[in-house]
Amino acid sequence: MSDPAVDVVEFLLTAHTYTEEDDLDEDDLPPRYRQVFWSDGSIERPLAVTQDRARTATSVDHPWDAVSDLLFTQRTEFSGEISLTQPDMALEWYLDHADEDRLAANPTLAYAAEHADVEVGVTREQAREDNQPIQADRVWIDSLLDEYFDEDDDAEMLDLVHILAPEEIETTLDDLVLTEDQNDEVNKIVTAIENRDYLASIGLSEIGKILFVGPPGTGKTTISRGLAHELGLPFVEVKLSMVTSQYLGETAKNVEKTFEVAKRLSPCILFIDEFDSVAKTRKSDEHAALKRAVNTLLKSIDDISLVRDEVLTVAATNHPDQLDAAAWRRFDEVVNFPKPDRQMRADILRIVTQDMQMGDFDPEVVAEETEGLTGSDLRMVLREAVLQALTEGRRELTQQDVMNAVQGFEERDNLKNMDMIDGEGAAIAGDGGHDHDHDH
Ligand SMILES: Nc1ncnc2c1ncn2[C@@H]1O[C@H](COP(=O)(O)OP(=O)(O)OP(=O)(O)O)[C@@H](O)[C@H]1O
Ligand SMILES: [Mg+2]
Repeated sequence: MSDPAVDVVEFLLTAHTYTEEDDLDEDDLPPRYRQVFWSDGSIERPLAVTQDRARTATSVDHPWDAVSDLLFTQRTEFSGEISLTQPDMALEWYLDHADEDRLAANPTLAYAAEHADVEVGVTREQAREDNQPIQADRVWIDSLLDEYFDEDDDAEMLDLVHILAPEEIETTLDDLVLTEDQNDEVNKIVTAIENRDYLASIGLSEIGKILFVGPPGTGKTTISRGLAHELGLPFVEVKLSMVTSQYLGETAKNVEKTFEVAKRLSPCILFIDEFDSVAKTRKSDEHAALKRAVNTLLKSIDDISLVRDEVLTVAATNHPDQLDAAAWRRFDEVVNFPKPDRQMRADILRIVTQDMQMGDFDPEVVAEETEGLTGSDLRMVLREAVLQALTEGRRELTQQDVMNAVQGFEERDNLKNMDMIDGEGAAIAGDGGHDHDHDH
């Protein structure tokens, strides 16, 4: 457990140093400190430490009590503000008590140590590299959206674009079973992003636009979010069906704004889902406003670059057959998301069940019996099995539970494909008792 006094002194010293040193900018502050000093879209000096701010930033319940014994702290009765009477002494005390990990997570204090000529094993530059940039903070994202989209646009915008800060992403790459191809691609992307300065210097700007192709539920969205989480980048998701839905008024303008937002948020990942909806509208004889929106979108994709704008563009589609040559040409990599094979299914089952209480469960056998199911389907199967067992008062799952859920899933899957008006789905309950595995 960390020492509350060190936590609060670190906060006080950071506020003090940041206030004094104009060389420091927002990216020198740890994200949990930034969030308490944020107001109206910026962080203004001086940074005043109130009890509330100290409590939120450090999670110490009684910040003043934690440091009131120290000789170099004071509290102003009236405002309740806490400050340092002798910053030099505070820094000395802090450096005596803090380990390298703390300084590595606080560029401002790594800077203070450098300037006091104290060797702490980490430089400000190193700490800044590891510190999450302000663009990835939720407060920053929200203020940016406020700036770009006024009240009237709000509802439309929320339908069109959805932004996640990296810490809001729950599924990570470790939760996914990837094909070799997908693994290679992930590595390539990570490497390209890490080396974007070099790529720019040799004039290689035509990279960083990727198309994910595969049936629903094969992990296209999840892998993209996982990448954002892994790289600590904001995730900007555009739902293309919204761009192309007709009742949106100022869509073309909002598409432009979305790309602006992505550029301002950069480095970030721009994820364009349902990319095929573009192709559909290009073919048919649509509304002029809609055509404009789609053209704007294609042009915006052309204009955005990983190397220049630090935006990685990922598009996803379930219907590659609907994309014309012009749409394909916009991507420099295409990654296939097939339905998982037997081995992948077994691995997915292992991951999905890793925190569950399992009895005589054999993922290999279940994998054998679940040909054609996707990762998403397998998750749903396990969820059913858990709920069924719970209703029977059990937490431990057996092979039988899982196999029953597989069967239930397949029956439901058949229902989904039935014609409910006059096809087989129109049958009356109990009528005939035919089995459900018919083909289509
Ligand atoms: N290969 C996989 N390994 C582990 N989990 C997977 C895999 N594929 C899919 N899943 C799980 O299935 C769920 C749905 O996946 P996701 O939404 O990413 O699919 P998608 O390809 O984006 O589908 P859609 O085309 O419908 O948007 C997620 O919870 C994800 O964790
Ligand atoms: Mg998806």
